[in-house]
Amino acid sequence: MITRREIDEREQLTIAPDGKPLAEQPRWRQDFPIDWPQDHYVARRDFTKFMVLTSFAFAFGQFWIVVENWLRQRRGQLPMQAIAKLNELAIGKSLVFAYPEAHDKCLLVRLGEQQFVAFGQECTHLACAVVPEPDKKRFLCPCHNGAFDLMTGKPLMGPPRRPLPRVTLEIRNDTIYATDVEVSTV
Ligand code: FES
Repeated sequence: MITRREIDEREQLTIAPDGKPLAEQPRWRQDFPIDWPQDHYVARRDFTKFMVLTSFAFAFGQFWIVVENWLRQRRGQLPMQAIAKLNELAIGKSLVFAYPEAHDKCLLVRLGEQQFVAFGQECTHLACAVVPEPDKKRFLCPCHNGAFDLMTGKPLMGPPRRPLPRVTLEIRNDTIYATDVEVSTV
């Protein structure tokens, strides 16, 4: 017995201009079908593909962070590096520096007389450069409107799920030094 749904779907079927069945149509017509039922099927198939790929990328990202942490522990602590003089940075201002490698851009922000924070500048979503907004107590990522807490680097809004890597600091005499990078997955 034919159900109401099958009748509805048949009514929505359209014959391709050359009259051949869908399986014999060129690939482009199969991917952009002219029938609603087939179109819904392709949309569901693409959505499933998207979900599988996204889950795989997420799992791989987590795995990569664990491997990076493990490699860093094996290499030992990073070298201490002078990044600025105390009088170079007014309260509420920030500067960009590279640590531990020349391509690892980081941000140093002065919050008070002796209070500084530093984080990696690369957004943990898709690696855009974040911008400090000390008055709003956050780092803003302009690419997809993501934001991170200025004190902890934890995500506040938007797509990012992981905190910014924190650069640990030490002040000796009148100089601020970067001493290590802490990467967290939560
Ligand atoms: S790259 Fe930062 S929110 Fe997407």
